Amino acid sequence: MKDLDRRAFLKNATAIAGTSVLLTNPFTSSAFYAQSADEVKVALVGCGGRGTGAAFQALSVKENVKLVAMADAFRDRLDSCYNNLTSGRAKEGQVAARVDVPEEHKFTGFEGYKKAMELADVVILTTPPGFRPIHFEEAVRQKKHVFMEKPVATDAPGIRRVLDAAEESKKKNLKVVVGLQRHYQKSYLETYKRVVEEGQIGDIVSARCYWNNDGVWVKKREENMTEMEYQMRNWYYFVWLCGDHISEQHIHNIDVINWFKGGYPKEAIGVGGREVRKGKEYGEIFDHHLVEFEYEDGMILNSQCRHQPGTVSNVSEHLVGTKGRATEGRLTDLKGNSLWRHRGKDDKNPYQVEHDHLFNCIVNNIPVNDAYNGAMSTMTAILGRMATYSGQKITMEEAMASNISLAPESFTWDTLPKSLPDENGFYPIPVPGKFKAV
Ligand SMILES: NC(=O)c1ccc[n+]([C@@H]2O[C@H](COP(=O)([O-])OP(=O)(O)OC[C@H]3O[C@@H](n4cnc5c(N)ncnc54)[C@H](O)[C@@H]3O)[C@@H](O)[C@H]2O)c1
Repeated sequence: MKDLDRRAFLKNATAIAGTSVLLTNPFTSSAFYAQSADEVKVALVGCGGRGTGAAFQALSVKENVKLVAMADAFRDRLDSCYNNLTSGRAKEGQVAARVDVPEEHKFTGFEGYKKAMELADVVILTTPPGFRPIHFEEAVRQKKHVFMEKPVATDAPGIRRVLDAAEESKKKNLKVVVGLQRHYQKSYLETYKRVVEEGQIGDIVSARCYWNNDGVWVKKREENMTEMEYQMRNWYYFVWLCGDHISEQHIHNIDVINWFKGGYPKEAIGVGGREVRKGKEYGEIFDHHLVEFEYEDGMILNSQCRHQPGTVSNVSEHLVGTKGRATEGRLTDLKGNSLWRHRGKDDKNPYQVEHDHLFNCIVNNIPVNDAYNGAMSTMTAILGRMATYSGQKITMEEAMASNISLAPESFTWDTLPKSLPDENGFYPIPVPGKFKAV
């Protein structure tokens, strides 16, 4: 029996059998608990901004958690994450004390994740999403519980791998939480209760959602970088790694509509392009997408995402029902009169709640598995991208069946990715009407 399973089994067994078993069973002796006391070992794969945050949250839960291994493609990223987890704010609470990663448990390069996973009960997957299918598949193969960030893939073959691994993870009774943290945010959960469970705005008949803002960081190409290293460092701007911003960020809003609607769109049409993102440092992604998703019952979701500095910001979701309207933490009637408002002054940080929930489920053997929804909401965003890149109407069925794989065939620092710059350093940009999306 796997270490953690054995400990969960023993915990349940002692709870059922009472103290007489405690006195006679060698595994439940105080010596056993003194050395392992329900310790849950965690490995972090992808030690960047979110990986550092997720590790911080995992190490802040009430269960006895320890970070035992770290893997990153780059040593400098791993080191800065390790430093953040062992100094400053981390030292004030319990976090730094729960980091136990000796030098031989720090892994770099493309293959390090496998060794890091072997040392743990739970793995945190926070690399760019292009690697998520490979890493999730391996975590499930090794029978590890998983926290993985959204999106969970960047193309349809990747989504199919995640869906297969999701099935397998359920058979193995693994706990999987996906970082679509609005599902763990009180303002959304309270809105969901009123809209979906209580039907306070009637049947949902239309929806719109937005992720409009300035955009994100850019990493410079340096002299000695191979093309692979450059794309990995500047990953946001390469579709095989990022999925484009419609998938990388706007997934949060699209996912909320899927969640409240209780399903996924059947088709999409859209427009998009690059108006301000002209430089070669912006790789190959668009700076705006406007997509009309149609659901099974004919409901239309209008989705907008834009990365253009100086334009109006808006990150939100809106539903129209037959009796009223809803947005996060707020319901109105059809005339705009307030029906309910969530104040939420003391709401817990949803990034923490998702980890509290995962570790509670692991230790107490409570089912949780977000992988299917994580994959289907990622696929919805990919469907939107396929529609804007191609300028065609694309069905979910066609999109899901696509065999276009964006990732390189192998991963070494000298491997050439599929999308390469011209002699002036510019990458090919999808042209609607010409681009083949499926
Ligand atoms: N839920 C949220 O609100 C939220 C917020 C931020 C980021 N994220 C997600 O977290 C993920 C990471 O984003 P980030 O902002 O931390 O990016 P980041 O660039 O800061 O971190 C990614 C890290 O992964 C490493 N990496 C890349 N390929 C790797 C590989 N094959 N093996 C091991 N390590 C590898 C990179 O070197 C880097 O350190 C993305 O999927 C992003 O969408 C989610």
